[in-house]
Amino acid sequence: MSATVTALLAQVELPDSSSPRLDAELLLAHVLNKPRSFLRTWPEHALKPDELQRYSQLVTRRRAGEPVAYLLGRQGFWNLDLEVAPSTLIPRADTETLVEAALDLALPAEATVLDLGTGTGAIALALAGERPGWQVLGCDRVDDAVQLATSNARRLGARNARFVLSDWFGALDPSARFNLVVSNPPYIAENDEHLGQGDVRFEPASALVSGPDGLDDIRRIIGQAPAFLSASGWLLLEHGWDQAESVASLLDSRGFQSIFSRRDIGGHQRVTGGYWHAG
Ligand SMILES: C[S@@+](CC[C@H](N)C(=O)[O-])C[C@H]1O[C@@H](n2cnc3c(N)ncnc32)[C@H](O)[C@@H]1O
Repeated sequence: MSATVTALLAQVELPDSSSPRLDAELLLAHVLNKPRSFLRTWPEHALKPDELQRYSQLVTRRRAGEPVAYLLGRQGFWNLDLEVAPSTLIPRADTETLVEAALDLALPAEATVLDLGTGTGAIALALAGERPGWQVLGCDRVDDAVQLATSNARRLGARNARFVLSDWFGALDPSARFNLVVSNPPYIAENDEHLGQGDVRFEPASALVSGPDGLDDIRRIIGQAPAFLSASGWLLLEHGWDQAESVASLLDSRGFQSIFSRRDIGGHQRVTGGYWHAG
């Protein structure tokens, strides 16, 4: 088999991928430790035997459905290059809607922010990068995720973000108060057929599934958040495309005001938030 860039890209077969050519280019560039543009500039570049073997192994894993981000160990989110691992969710473009909604709020220049279920630290690190005056705390129940987020923060030089192990608010200092609490919690119903399809087959259930209607964790967060919000503060939640009304109703029942939803790039209501005013 010819092992030039052009030949390898022409042969690739990833029938279950929606972007086979892109996947192959990303894997090939990864093996060569070059940017993707290298493949266009040097189409006749021939791989060494060990590179060819590593590339073939990655293509085989991709053919079995493993997400490209896990194969590369990297995923772009907002303006960040994040390390990813199978201990937690691969950050999604939809979640940038939550970051945008948070940045649009009128908050103090030195706001305190809590990111519940931080995973790679994607939301926390995007907010910390955009607002250097904010102090951002991220928590996760999975220790490997906390380690991953901490490592991402260190690599990106984010001094105003730190990460702790906690089951939602459980391990936080009970006297802590935040101007803003954000979360992209698990929100998929446990019998949802999508759990058997695509990338999510390789992502941990602990990052995805939340009871019979997908709302168990959102109920817990909405129930407990007021005790950790400042006298006036915001709670913003990412949720499923059809959950906005339910989340708005849960926020309303708990006493939140100024409830709003925001659409993702696909046009679905993806984020719902409310304002908490004590007293
Ligand atoms: C949907 S993922 C979101 C990850 C990341 N925030 C993002 O947007 O890419 C949900 C995250 O919540 C964490 N998680 C699930 N249950 C939790 C709990 N009870 N307390 C804290 N974190 C939890 C999972 O480990 C996972 O990292």
